Amino acid sequence: MNETLKVIAERYSCRNYKDEIPSDEILEAIAEAAIQAPSGMNRQAWRVIVVKDKELIHDMETEGMSYLANMEDKSSYNRIMERGGRLFYGAPCMIVVPIDPAQYAPALIDCGILCQNITLAATSLGIANIMCGFTGLAFASGVRAEEFSKRLGFPDGYAFGCSVLLGYANETRAPHIPDKEKITFIE
Ligand SMILES: Cc1cc2nc3c(=O)[nH]c(=O)nc-3n(C[C@H](O)[C@H](O)[C@H](O)COP(=O)(O)O)c2cc1C
Repeated sequence: MNETLKVIAERYSCRNYKDEIPSDEILEAIAEAAIQAPSGMNRQAWRVIVVKDKELIHDMETEGMSYLANMEDKSSYNRIMERGGRLFYGAPCMIVVPIDPAQYAPALIDCGILCQNITLAATSLGIANIMCGFTGLAFASGVRAEEFSKRLGFPDGYAFGCSVLLGYANETRAPHIPDKEKITFIE
């Protein structure tokens, strides 16, 4: 296996982080890997926002948890509570990726590709990570969406796409075993 395939095989979603924030040098390398992602027609209808502001992370987590707690379907809330009650699993920083779907309809696909660049770059540098769509819950009720968009510096018209939590693992986990049944060859 070459180094790239090893990193792909080693990546796993970390749900328990230490307080320590990775250095700016590491975060910059990850952010630069992110913006090297391909995008449809090279639109790049995304931004890469590295968030180290503890208060902002805390406020988004609180708002997201409160949104989950008030949902009629309690399954996601219960799952997070079983995992320790923290939407962001104690991650000390994250990269938020807002997108502009008005500029380009499949922007969310590009956002996912960019986020995968983040998770693989982070893994290669020893930084634990997890894609976190639930960060979007902080925007879901609409009540604080504008406030968070402003604090995160979303450009006009941009909306939350996805995020990746980053940090050092408190608890590591083996990557899941891939199901090779999902692969077929037509010859
Ligand atoms: C677009 C996307 C959003 C995700 N959002 C969350 C999330 O909000 N919370 C969470 O705990 N895991 C989230 N995950 C992680 C998945 O649950 C995880 O990738 C999956 O269980 C497979 O585990 P693995 O990443 O360790 O292989 C997300 C993954 C993707 C691709």
